[in-house]
Amino acid sequence: MASSHHASSRKYIALSALALLFGLLIGVVIGYFAFSRGTETVTVPSCGDACQEPDPDIFNKLVNEMKASNIGDYLRKLTSVPHLAGTPMDLENAEYVRDEWIKYGLDSAKIYSYDVLLSYPDSNEHNLVQLLDEHGNINFTCAIEEQGLRDDEKVENIVNPFNAYSGTGNITGDLVYVNYARVEDFDELEEYYPDLNLTGKIFIARYGKIFRGNKALHSEQRGAIGLIIYSDPADYASDDATDVYPDAWWLPGTGAQRGNLHVSDHKGDPLTPGYPAKDYAYRSQVEDAPLPNIPVHPIGYDDAKMFLRELSGDIVPSGWAGDLGVTYRIGPGFNNANRKVNMDIHTRNEQRMTHNVIGFIEGAVEPDRYIILGNHRDAWVFGGVDPSSGTAGMMELTRAFGKLLKEGWRPRRSLVFGSWGAEEYGLIGSTEWVEEFVQNLAARTVAYLNVDIATSGDFTFVAKSTPLLYEAIYSATKKVTSPEDSSKSVYDVWLERYPPDSGDLPPISSLGSGSDFAPFTYRIGVPAADLRYRHNPGLGISSYPVYHSVYETYYLVEAFIDPEFNRNLAVTSVWGELARDLADSIIIPFNCKDYAEQIQLAVEDLKSKFESEMRNEGIHFDAVDSAAANFTSAATSFHQRIASMELNDAMKIRRINDQLMSVERAFIDPLGLPSRRFLRHVLFAPSVTNYYAGSAFPGIQDAMYKINENLDQWDTVKQQMAVIAFCIQSAASTMMDVVL
Ligand SMILES: *[C@@H]1O[C@H](CO)[C@@H](O)[C@H](O)[C@H]1NC(C)=O
Ligand SMILES: *[C@@H]1O[C@H](CO)[C@@H](O)[C@H](O)[C@H]1NC(C)=O
Ligand SMILES: *[C@@H]1O[C@H](CO)[C@@H](O)[C@H](O)[C@H]1NC(C)=O
Ligand SMILES: *[C@@H]1O[C@H](CO)[C@@H](O)[C@H](O)[C@H]1NC(C)=O
Ligand SMILES: [Zn+2]
Repeated sequence: MASSHHASSRKYIALSALALLFGLLIGVVIGYFAFSRGTETVTVPSCGDACQEPDPDIFNKLVNEMKASNIGDYLRKLTSVPHLAGTPMDLENAEYVRDEWIKYGLDSAKIYSYDVLLSYPDSNEHNLVQLLDEHGNINFTCAIEEQGLRDDEKVENIVNPFNAYSGTGNITGDLVYVNYARVEDFDELEEYYPDLNLTGKIFIARYGKIFRGNKALHSEQRGAIGLIIYSDPADYASDDATDVYPDAWWLPGTGAQRGNLHVSDHKGDPLTPGYPAKDYAYRSQVEDAPLPNIPVHPIGYDDAKMFLRELSGDIVPSGWAGDLGVTYRIGPGFNNANRKVNMDIHTRNEQRMTHNVIGFIEGAVEPDRYIILGNHRDAWVFGGVDPSSGTAGMMELTRAFGKLLKEGWRPRRSLVFGSWGAEEYGLIGSTEWVEEFVQNLAARTVAYLNVDIATSGDFTFVAKSTPLLYEAIYSATKKVTSPEDSSKSVYDVWLERYPPDSGDLPPISSLGSGSDFAPFTYRIGVPAADLRYRHNPGLGISSYPVYHSVYETYYLVEAFIDPEFNRNLAVTSVWGELARDLADSIIIPFNCKDYAEQIQLAVEDLKSKFESEMRNEGIHFDAVDSAAANFTSAATSFHQRIASMELNDAMKIRRINDQLMSVERAFIDPLGLPSRRFLRHVLFAPSVTNYYAGSAFPGIQDAMYKINENLDQWDTVKQQMAVIAFCIQSAASTMMDVVL
């Protein structure tokens, strides 16, 4: 037995050795042919999790977890006290958000703090705007505080209306009415009243149409010594003067819009452009910061009427009169020429800490790819609409994602949540964070999804975004039930209420600026979107009426905007699904063909504006046209390649996704726009005359604007035409196959 056992085992060893040898040989042969005959015959390594389709039921689980009433509860908590940036509530709220996120089960939540230049009224000396009579005595002083709050809203630490970063000073002069203080308003003044000398005057402008910082800049450039900005009833109230908060959502007569005046290409901390405001940062002198030198202050329409009814001079051009019930005149000065306006402004700049909270859900397959969801936390006062409606949605969304994590779900890519500080002062928290982590964020961020205000009205969902995200936004809105009609989707009602001028999709506007997506898109080329529910544009008002006033309360939202918080829930659901889709889909759901179409439209638009003027200078569109055509065909074949691809090779999937991520980044010119070096996206930027609005091909538009102001910029136009042709071609090349 023993010997036979020996013999058989020896035979076994010999056989095994032979088999092993044979196997090795086969392997070598296969390897040889595989290498010699190209990659097709290589057996694809097992793909495992990397090729796993997302859980088809995950959208329902996420949406079913979220409750409108929870959003209401968060909003009540967040709006219970003022939470202005740089005050103790900035840190207290940051700690609250961090602690909640840890409790919900996010993988981490940390506070990132920055030491930045902010601005506040002086607590001892009120800012005064006054009418002085012919003897230099005070005839009338504008309200210091807004009136008419409900009893439970009369709390401490309400900052009086002011404009952050205003210049200080005590000035007296004659008043001139300048409408919205847009460039075209000043052009009109010059045309109709060539003898009007604006130098040394105090301007009064109404709020609306453009960013207030541009109003201050335009005024200072035209020689104003001070600027008063007020909210005209035509732009912020109803026809019935008594129909105001707390009886309606309209702005009361003492309501004034707070807001910052920081106009520059970098935004963020005014003293540390380009770099994070760490303790070791190099800080420029405050005098050199891009802030106004003249005093600027906001007032309500009751007070504005006291000035405007006494103005002398010509009656205003058509379109300039508001609804104050007085005859609007230009000035300068009053009917009694010895009466003057005085502004005694003590608003001061101060270095203080502001805080971001960053929450993190680590992706299971591609943890180094980030989908970032952001909302700012700081408010001028209670922030009922701006930004706490967004914060309330974000809290409920993070809670729901935490719940899914506890149930075993994990996204393919990482989800990052940013709760930003000091957005109201000029996108400060988000910009400093992007500056601190610029390398990682530029390389790893798939998309940035912003909700600043979740609900500013009850009319319809709207979105702004870069073109790569259009399709994903439509797809998310088709999945979420409309808060108005449960038989319809958010998409259906959006399309009904916002019919497109052409085509059959609800319009998505370009980003412009005015919120925290700006540093992501314009600095590092990250595709971004901004979502909200808004009021009916047919109302013809500039924004929701009580914007940045003390009346942005919980009561306002509950009584007039979103009584059941289901509009907020709809926006939050779209936000969550869009993020989940971007995080979970094997192939990132970007559509480059939509980008191609937008480029073609933008080129046509540029031609219709400037082509003949440019032709006279020998500038033509050949290269731009050629690059745009190349981009279009590259996008078409890229998407064909993606559609026909088998999702069984992890490396190949990653390769395609890396290409998808490169497209937007190719529009970043490392040198920046001419004279706006921190804005580096050559296709889109905030407009130079209105930071809120978007401008296509900003390098060209800026230069053409200067040419219209009689500056010689034709070389810049030539250079920028070449830059955009290059960047579009470069973007096209990112979509082509890997062989250069
Ligand atoms: C202010 O001036 C108006 C005239 O425009 C006059 O009727 C009013 O009494 C004055 N008020 C004071 C407090 O001087
Ligand atoms: C500001 O200027 C006005 C008008 O010249 C003057 O009456 C007032 O006393 C000044 N205020 C201060 C605090 O100096
Ligand atoms: C305009 O007013 C300023 C300030 O009073 C004065 O210095 C300047 O000479 C005036 N310009 C003209 C053209 O009158
Ligand atoms: C567009 O593609 C064609 C063909 O590859 C190439 O010859 C042309 O130079 C490209 N256009 C630009 C602006 O690079
Ligand atoms: Zn906001």
